[in-house]
Amino acid sequence: MHTHARYIHALGPAVLTRFYDPAVRLLIREEVFRSQLVSHMQLAPGQRVLDVGCGTGTLAVLAQQRHPGVEVHAVDGDDKVLAIAREKAARAGAGVRFERAMAWELPYPDGTFDRVVSSLMFHHLAADDKRRAAEEILRVLRPGGALLLADFGSPREAPGRVVVRALRWFERLAHRRDDDLVHRFDDNLADRLPAVLSGAGFSGAAEIDRISTAILPIAMVRGHKRDDAPEA
Ligand SMILES: C[S@@+](CC[C@H](N)C(=O)[O-])C[C@H]1O[C@@H](n2cnc3c(N)ncnc32)[C@H](O)[C@@H]1O
Repeated sequence: MHTHARYIHALGPAVLTRFYDPAVRLLIREEVFRSQLVSHMQLAPGQRVLDVGCGTGTLAVLAQQRHPGVEVHAVDGDDKVLAIAREKAARAGAGVRFERAMAWELPYPDGTFDRVVSSLMFHHLAADDKRRAAEEILRVLRPGGALLLADFGSPREAPGRVVVRALRWFERLAHRRDDDLVHRFDDNLADRLPAVLSGAGFSGAAEIDRISTAILPIAMVRGHKRDDAPEA
């Protein structure tokens, strides 16, 4: 794995990664969430799509199965989670191309992808890393291409606010030596992901959908690379 002091694995501590799929099935309405996200990607045959922070590969596999005419690539910074993803794709007969890469250093030329998607990954990044990941995603999108970001948003009801308090307490305990990590949920919980994308140069960044889950709502945010952005 690439070394970076601020890397946070799928469920926090690396030893928990093997429990990621059952945890997600339990805590979020996974089928509804992933299915809606793939629909929002508006994929068409011949397109190239990249999933950034793909984790165990569930979304990339679903996108490939639903759209066999699309070339699906997926990256994650963690070799162990990629091994799970590769096995899942092989079992499903889905030809997803996986690579190990950090979100802020993608191994593709400028303008490679029609769509980029990233789900439940941005809350792993401190504010400055969110910004450089968004700028890097913009680089690999073709002019006119779109990023779909799905990640936790601010709760509007009481149970969610209890989750936020527990989360704040846990983050202070887990990352007490790194204030930037303690605050890594701030943009999410203030619904500032569209502003993060605008700040990185995306046009028309806005929340387009939101689903409730047993923990926090998941906001789906879309932003575009301007049509007149210079080609590679
Ligand atoms: C909560 S999981 C989400 C996985 C998957 N996208 C999903 O929807 O289930 C976050 C993933 O992001 C990856 N990740 C965290 N920081 C990263 C970074 N800087 N670059 C690439 N991947 C990263 C982790 O290894 C983990 O697999």
